[in-house]
Amino acid sequence: EANRKLGGKKVVITAGGTVERIDPVRYISNDSSGKMGFALARAAKEMGAEVTLIAARTDEAPPGDIRVVRVQSADDMYQAVSAEWDDCDILIKAAAVADYRPRERAETKIKKAGDTMTLELVKTVDILESFGQRKTSQLLVGFAAETGNAEMYARDKLVRKNLDLIVANDVGQPGAGFGVDTNIVSIYDRSGLVEELPLLSKDEVARRILSAAGDRLKEEGR
Ligand code: PMT
Repeated sequence: EANRKLGGKKVVITAGGTVERIDPVRYISNDSSGKMGFALARAAKEMGAEVTLIAARTDEAPPGDIRVVRVQSADDMYQAVSAEWDDCDILIKAAAVADYRPRERAETKIKKAGDTMTLELVKTVDILESFGQRKTSQLLVGFAAETGNAEMYARDKLVRKNLDLIVANDVGQPGAGFGVDTNIVSIYDRSGLVEELPLLSKDEVARRILSAAGDRLKEEGR
């Protein structure tokens, strides 16, 4: 059913896997396909929101009626979120963001030389954590992709990154997580479990997450 629960709200979604360049032809990335984030963007649009989708590497076709900002690295994604932040009502970070990037980015293709090669990595900016600190009226929704102890790690991220909701995604289960059209998630807030969802399409998971976020805004009179 079409509900306009998010009418008048500005929703910013991040999707896909960030790309951290090693040289002009090589990079570090991850298995995120962007499907979860794109589903969130479509669902938010259906629910009446003004949507900006910040997309890192993905093969998903851009939805025609949604504003898409393309990015590569965690740093780019941070800048893109910054640009949308002030009038944002809900930020949902479904993107799989690199935790580390190469310290140096070579200007030309690195040549094969010795038998071993060492790549030094440095921490990237934690986007969620830094916006968690800057939060004023924005509702912040994070994901936690885990392969075990999903609840514990998710709830720890919720508190540490100062989030309003976290979507715990146990990506070790068949039909859940990276690359597939379905997902299995549980949503938590500060006081505990909000909703434990069975195996559902990512489109349906997206509706449930946005619905929980919309309820939260309403409860808090925002
Ligand atoms: O894209 P799909 O193929 O559809 O797969 C969906 C998904 C598995 C990628 C998605 O459901 C998911 O779980 N996304 C979060 C992946 C992730 O990076 O989780 P994490 O536990 O490493 O990070 C926790 C949260 O912090 C995430 O919201 C992440 O966007 C954010 N983060 C992480 C690192 C960083 N430097 N900055 C961040 O903002």
